[in-house]
Amino acid sequence: MKQKIFLLLAMSALFLVSCAINNGLSSEQIGIRKTDLETENKVILPKVNYTNAQPGESVVYERGYENAPPLIPHDINDMIPITKDNNTCISCHDKFIAADVGATPIPATHYYNYRLNKSTGDSLTEARFNCTQCHVPQSDAKPLIGNTFKPEFKSENSKSRSNLIDVMNEGLK
Ligand code: HEC
Ligand code: HEC
Repeated sequence: MKQKIFLLLAMSALFLVSCAINNGLSSEQIGIRKTDLETENKVILPKVNYTNAQPGESVVYERGYENAPPLIPHDINDMIPITKDNNTCISCHDKFIAADVGATPIPATHYYNYRLNKSTGDSLTEARFNCTQCHVPQSDAKPLIGNTFKPEFKSENSKSRSNLIDVMNEGLK
């Protein structure tokens, strides 16, 4: 009996605490989709158009902040999904090919295995094989919430090129 009363008290306390935490807001009012958790997958998100400029004809955006992964400025429809046997991105962005096709070369960090702490030489480290895991194409998506973030760049060059490997090694030599 005592145990049951204790359980009841504990549950009421938990209920009161959770009410206090969400400040009386209903689950539809929390979150950006304005729906409850059970139905949020059914919400139709606004349609977003991705860039359809071809490689060589696209406009590259300034980096979001220093050493941010750059957005993909060109169409990638014919290049995805990236598979074990087919990674078109490398055929233009490989550090030995990029200059010839006018593409940005894949940076030094992508030729380094940070788990084993050693360079992978001329071949890409496996962790960087799936480019679209980190790089997304430019789109006309509108920000869902206002944002006043302004990036600070240490140099003009870092607005369009990364130097992450040097930054990571600063003070180590
Ligand atoms: C046919 C060659 C080609 C292929 C294939 C290609 N790219 Fe590109 N990429 C370019 C060129 C050229 C640019 C430079 C912008 C331009 O001229 O359109 C570029 C720019 C980029 C940039 C922007 C770099 C910066 O400096 O801001 C990223 C990121 C990128 N590509 C990622 C990818 C990914 C990921 C894939 C595969 C899904 C891919 N690219 C496939 C040629 C290519
Ligand atoms: C795990 C996340 C991740 C993956 C996977 C990844 N990148 Fe990156 N990429 C980044 C980040 C972060 C940067 C910026 C910092 C840096 O240079 O490492 C970057 C930078 C770049 C740059 C700009 C280089 C420069 O000098 O400014 C290019 C081009 C690029 N990546 C292409 C690729 C391509 C092509 C692939 C697939 C073969 C790929 N990346 C896979 C995260 C990733």
